[in-house]
Formats: sequence, structure tokens, C-alpha cells
Amino acid sequence: MMQTYGISVIRTVPELRDQTAAWRDEDERIALVPTMGALHEGHIALVRRALETCDRVIVSLFINPTQFGKNEDLSIYPHDEIGDIEILEELGIHVLYAPTMEEMYPDGFATSVRVSELTEGLCGVFRPVHFAGVATVVTKLLLQSLPDVAVFGEKDYQQLQIIRRLARDLDIPVLIDGVPTVREEDGLALSSRNAYLSPRERVMAPSLFKVLQKVATGLQAGEEVQGLMEAGKRELLKDGFSKVDYFEVCDAETLKPVSRIKAAARVLAAAYLGKTRLIDNHPVVANRGD
Ligand code: PAJ
Repeated sequence: MMQTYGISVIRTVPELRDQTAAWRDEDERIALVPTMGALHEGHIALVRRALETCDRVIVSLFINPTQFGKNEDLSIYPHDEIGDIEILEELGIHVLYAPTMEEMYPDGFATSVRVSELTEGLCGVFRPVHFAGVATVVTKLLLQSLPDVAVFGEKDYQQLQIIRRLARDLDIPVLIDGVPTVREEDGLALSSRNAYLSPRERVMAPSLFKVLQKVATGLQAGEEVQGLMEAGKRELLKDGFSKVDYFEVCDAETLKPVSRIKAAARVLAAAYLGKTRLIDNHPVVANRGD
């Protein structure tokens, strides 16, 4: 275990278990915040939430190769462990858990966690291996640290719902806490992938949130789902997005497409600006009495 000023950097499961066992002996509540590093204000909001609700906070940093497809950005995904440690140290985090590849996927690793239905629509259509990779690594991280609470962002809304489902289905005794998306002043959701945008694309990027917001407002005012979805897609293309993977209105919990707003819903979209794929989503509140 490497001890810097206040934060311990742990790289193995036995060391993590020793640490969490000692905390549990003291009746301390433990939170886990899983990340792939290159920390920004979105991650920091999750860390702050964890610090508010628990006595001890573990942030994990593992760039999980199994959730990247063959043609995706694994090889260029940003790394900055030293910068991340500085940020976490300043926030008063107790442990950075940054396991090695061998620790997470030892030779002969053969198990995968597959959540059906929730993983099949939206991003699942375009990133076929992604959610099995996420579900497997998050299950491992939860079982390695057995936290009372694990914190995730609504930015990756489908991921959040999948993780809620797997924790319930596998009886993992953890509360999954979702934190609203942190945005730039112009509405763009913070993301490590925003660094890939050219200056010109960066100017166009906030249109994704604006269009989602506009569609959510229209839905709340009782406008028709299909028409708004099509208009939203057209507007993104007009605003400079090169390709729209999906623009959908779904039930907020099951993520099944809806044709009328009867319960809490979510508008979700994924679209390309040049080579960069951006995702975002917005809540739709069902009118009372509907
Ligand atoms: P990563 O993209 O690093 O995100 C880590 C956590 O930060 C996720 O829960 C994500 O939803 C949240 N997050 C990212 N941007 C955010 C924003 N702008 N506002 C609020 N929360 C934000 O998501 C992953 O890593 C991985 O799939 C992981 C869960 C760690 C499994 O490998």
C-alpha cells in the first residue's frame, strides 16, 4: 500500500479487504465511487455526495478494457493518475483503489455478468459489448469493496439503471445512489471525451442538451412523443451533428420506449460531432392526474 499524505493507494483485493474490514470494525459507513480516472467536476460531484453520506470513501480508478469495443477509444483514453491523486487528496478521500490488470482479470478469467433487456436498447444497439463489460467490472468492484453505498452519475443513465438492476438481482447489499449530471455553463455535460472535440465542435456541442431540454419541455406540455423525437433528431443534424445513433423517449426505470407520457420518463440521445460520440439525457416529469 502506498501512503501519500492522507490518501492510501491500494492495488490489490486483499489490501482493500483489510482496509474495509478495519473500517467496518469501527462501524464506519463506506462509499465506493467507481471511475476510469481523468477526473473532472462530474466525478467530483459523486465524490462529494459520497463524503456527505458515508464516513469513508473509496474512489476506484480502472480503465476497464472489456467495456470498449474493437474500434473504440481505449488506446487514447486519457490517463492522469498523479493528477487524480492530487484532486482526491484535496477532497479528503481515504483510499484510491487502482487495481492492476492482473488483479482484475487474472489468467483464465471466464465470467461475465449480463443484464438482459435494459442493455439491449439505446447505447446497447451501437456498443454491443459495452454493458457486459461495465456490469462485470462493477459487480467485481462492488464485491471487492462491499460498500454501504456506491455512487454513479445520471450522465450515463442507462448504465445507472443497469447497475441498479444487477445489484438488486444479485442481492448485492449496497445502495446505488444516482447524482444529477454536472454541466458546463452552456449546458454541455462534462465528460472525459469532450477533450476530443475541436474548437468548432465544442461550440456546437451544447446543442445536444438544448434539444433534449426542449423536447422534455414539449413532452411535459403534452405534445406528442413521436413528432418531438423526430424534430429533435432533425434539429441535432441541422446544428452540425454528423450522425444521430438514437434520440428516444423511454420509461425512466425500464428504459422501454414510450409513446405517451404516463409515468416518469427520460429523453436520451447519442450523436456524433465528427469522430466524437456524445451522450446525454434529460428527465421528463409526468403530469399529475394523467
Ligand atoms: P467514467 O466515465 O469515468 O465515469 C465515472 C462516473 O462518473 C460514472 O458514474 C459517470 O456517470 C459519472 N459521470 C461522468 N460524467 C459526469 C457528469 N458530467 N455529471 C455527473 N456524473 C458524471 O462510467 C464509467 O467511468 C465506467 O463505466 C465505470 C462505471 C467506472 C465502470 O468501468
